[in-house]
Amino acid sequence: MSDIIGKNIIKLNLTDSTNNYAIKKHSQDGWPEGTVVMCKEQTNGRGQINNSWESEYGENLLLSIVLYPDFLPVQRQFQLSKIIALGISETLSLFNEEVTVKWPNDIYIGNKKIAGILIENSVMGNTICSSVIGIGINLNQKKFLSDAPNPISLFQLLGLKVDLEEFANLLFSNLNIWLNKLRNNMNHEIDYHYLKSLYRINQEAEFSDKDEIFAGKIIGINETGQLVIAKKNGGLKEYHFKEVEFI
Ligand code: BTN
Repeated sequence: MSDIIGKNIIKLNLTDSTNNYAIKKHSQDGWPEGTVVMCKEQTNGRGQINNSWESEYGENLLLSIVLYPDFLPVQRQFQLSKIIALGISETLSLFNEEVTVKWPNDIYIGNKKIAGILIENSVMGNTICSSVIGIGINLNQKKFLSDAPNPISLFQLLGLKVDLEEFANLLFSNLNIWLNKLRNNMNHEIDYHYLKSLYRINQEAEFSDKDEIFAGKIIGINETGQLVIAKKNGGLKEYHFKEVEFI
């Protein structure tokens, strides 16, 4: 399987959101699979659950990738989220050793968020017709002004600027490796590395869900991508996104 991500790149100065741009244009203009749209600034950068995504002009990586993963049943779509998180975390790990993936797909260094992923799928029946994978990675920004709880950039950690284009090329090459593993059904390897990278896996911690505050440990992810927590006083609980939080 050839490396498709990044073969075709559309570079913009300004757009509302690279995800919006990709959603609108990929079918209109017949984008080949793996097309990337990247920009220097977004006027309406979108995060998960209607949050906005802060990024100063030209300082960070802001991009969306279009895939047509019709080989992946809808029930297994979290595998796609895993490989994207792995590609990003592996690339950041070249610069810092403390990178983890905070379930479902935030990329953390220590207790701070360095990158976010927003995947928007178009589904027909059991098939994912297209997937727009938005990625924001904080690279060179010196200061964050929004009320996002815990952003951090590589510059804030290292005190040096990285070349955005070089970083993007490393990222595309890691993402292609993981995408090829997904296409080749290497799900055990994907699951193993995802779990190994997981923020606070197997560590005793306090959580809260809609019913209670409780002590427990993240012990894994189930088939559909739910987080599995073993409660300290017995029993397992499985959660969808936003149903549980660390305290
Ligand atoms: C999150 O909330 O963690 C997801 C953030 C995703 C941000 C990226 S930046 C490029 C792409 N375009 C968007 O509007 N959002 C994603």
